[in-house]
Amino acid sequence: MITLDIREIPPKTRHQAIFDKFHALEPGESMLIRTDHDPKPLFYQFTAEQPGRFKWENESAGPDIWEVRITRMDPAATVASIVRDYPAAAGLFNRLGIDYCCHGDQPFEQAVRREGLDPAELMSQIRNLTPASASERLNYGQWSLSFICDFIESNHHSYVREKLPLLKDLSEKVQNAHGGQHSFLMELKECISHLGQELLPHLRKEEDVLFPAIRKAEATGTGDTEMRERLKNELKSEHEKAGQLMKRIRQITNHYTPPEDACATFSYFYQELEAFEKDLFTHVHLENNILFEKLSRTIIC
Ligand SMILES: [Fe+2]
Ligand SMILES: [Fe+2]
Repeated sequence: MITLDIREIPPKTRHQAIFDKFHALEPGESMLIRTDHDPKPLFYQFTAEQPGRFKWENESAGPDIWEVRITRMDPAATVASIVRDYPAAAGLFNRLGIDYCCHGDQPFEQAVRREGLDPAELMSQIRNLTPASASERLNYGQWSLSFICDFIESNHHSYVREKLPLLKDLSEKVQNAHGGQHSFLMELKECISHLGQELLPHLRKEEDVLFPAIRKAEATGTGDTEMRERLKNELKSEHEKAGQLMKRIRQITNHYTPPEDACATFSYFYQELEAFEKDLFTHVHLENNILFEKLSRTIIC
């Protein structure tokens, strides 16, 4: 964190120096101001000039030294824009129950406060996250639309097709073996079956209709904008349904925590389910917040 000791700056240029430093901060980044008097006038100037864009925390208050930590906030940031800038935030949002894929356009601040958390603290935690996997280091923003479609098909669609039968099979096995002690397993099995019914035709629609239309429009600069927009909205509402099912699954499984009497298969089932959720949310984020957004911005025909 940057420390600015304003006792070393001539009084006439102090406030300007502080605001220059503040504007150079990244959202979520903080600076510490050290002074020999109560910095209340500075607080009033921040309140007047930067409403909603800063967080003020008194670290020490006299009698000789006053210290205040000022954090830069970005009121326009959405949860999707945070994941775009910091892909490793996706895992953290999953754990906190913050929906960045189907409701990626919600303001970050509101979403975080709804969970009873402090946006500035969470932002600084996000800035310090180390990408856990190769997929968290990918820079989707640089990719062409066609490449994003190819990537989604070969990674996420093939993953869904490989894992859905496994999850269905595990849900039946675990329900047969443990359903007597754990009645929620019946609903869990039904949710997984429902998820398959929702997702498989959805993947086909993307692969057979939307993705070919995107590739053609990108290659030729021509195409049916109205059809693409209609399809995009339809697919977004299907994402929402799948997202709701995953949320219900997270609830039923108590955040994928196996009960104490769980056997190895039961635990494995939950591990696979949690991995499926993570992949599905990344997949939906990639479509809703990267592909569809980029599509609206780049193809005008
Ligand atoms: Fe997809
Ligand atoms: Fe999709």
